Amino acid sequence: MAKRDVAAELLRELGQDRTGFHSGEELSTRLGVSRTAVWKAACRLREAGYAIESVTRLGYRLTALPDGMTRELLEQYLPQGRGETVICYEETDSTNTRGMQLALEGAPTGTVVLADRQTRGSGRLGRSFLSPGGQGVYLSYLYRPDCDPAALSLLTSCAGLAVCQVLEELGLAPAIKWPNDIIIDRRKVCGILTKLASDAETATVNGAVIGIGVNVTQQREDFPEELRDKAVSVQEAGVTVPRAAVAAGIITRLDDLLLRQRILSQPSEALIGELTRRSCTVGSRVEVISPTGEYEALAVGIAPDAGLVVELPDGSRRTVSSGEVSVRGLLGYT
Ligand code: BTN
Repeated sequence: MAKRDVAAELLRELGQDRTGFHSGEELSTRLGVSRTAVWKAACRLREAGYAIESVTRLGYRLTALPDGMTRELLEQYLPQGRGETVICYEETDSTNTRGMQLALEGAPTGTVVLADRQTRGSGRLGRSFLSPGGQGVYLSYLYRPDCDPAALSLLTSCAGLAVCQVLEELGLAPAIKWPNDIIIDRRKVCGILTKLASDAETATVNGAVIGIGVNVTQQREDFPEELRDKAVSVQEAGVTVPRAAVAAGIITRLDDLLLRQRILSQPSEALIGELTRRSCTVGSRVEVISPTGEYEALAVGIAPDAGLVVELPDGSRRTVSSGEVSVRGLLGYT
């Protein structure tokens, strides 16, 4: 039987109400341990960086959380019980690799893998994604499709919408650079990479792993010199927020869009409208780089499958998909 973690249980109790005090007696009854065990657990939490006030005759109160990427910490920001299918690593190669493995092992939809740092963070087009410890959110969300596989092309965009919603709640003004970057003031704050786990025998997609990397606490000098004008963190953009709060916000938003609203089962004009409204690509001149050649066009809209609709100089329109092409903005952020 797994050993009880009284400190984690105490944290859950204290986290449920952070305004008032919880008496030692009440806590010992609720947890079914002695008051000394409660006291020891509070000491352990303080050692881990939690600020816990204790006042004679009033009890304990949680006043501040440390920065970190542990499940206990995440549970402070997630709805009750949601943390049960979140797996946190201090270090892993890539949460997308872990997520693909979990997909093959049959993990349920909504399972999340998070890491404080990645040693082989991967980005689009075979690029690497810098993932230093203590500075970002690196998470992969496993989604088991219960929709038409064609709708899966919308997944990266849904994740982009979820990230934008979280950043907007923090008072920022993010935009989506089609197909998978979130930018603030023309610099990249987040990248998204979705992988599909398919079954060759049945030719079906049995899982999709949506990988999301957000720069949260970096200062300008923390980025390598060549990225300083291209990358930004949430903190540099003016908002100080615990990384676990950002991660929990993204998970909660994805749960809402994918599992509660089941947005992929009924792709709606409203979703495309939300994506178009936040797109900084639509309305810009772009250079489309496809396997068959490069050409300039004007981005004019987002298609129902989340592809980019472009208009060519002769006035004809076509939809380009993220798998086939790389779109480079001719103005501003590239
Ligand atoms: C890109 O910008 O090209 C996409 C970057 C995606 C990075 C995230 S971090 C979490 C997940 N694990 C990875 O190895 N990649 C994604």
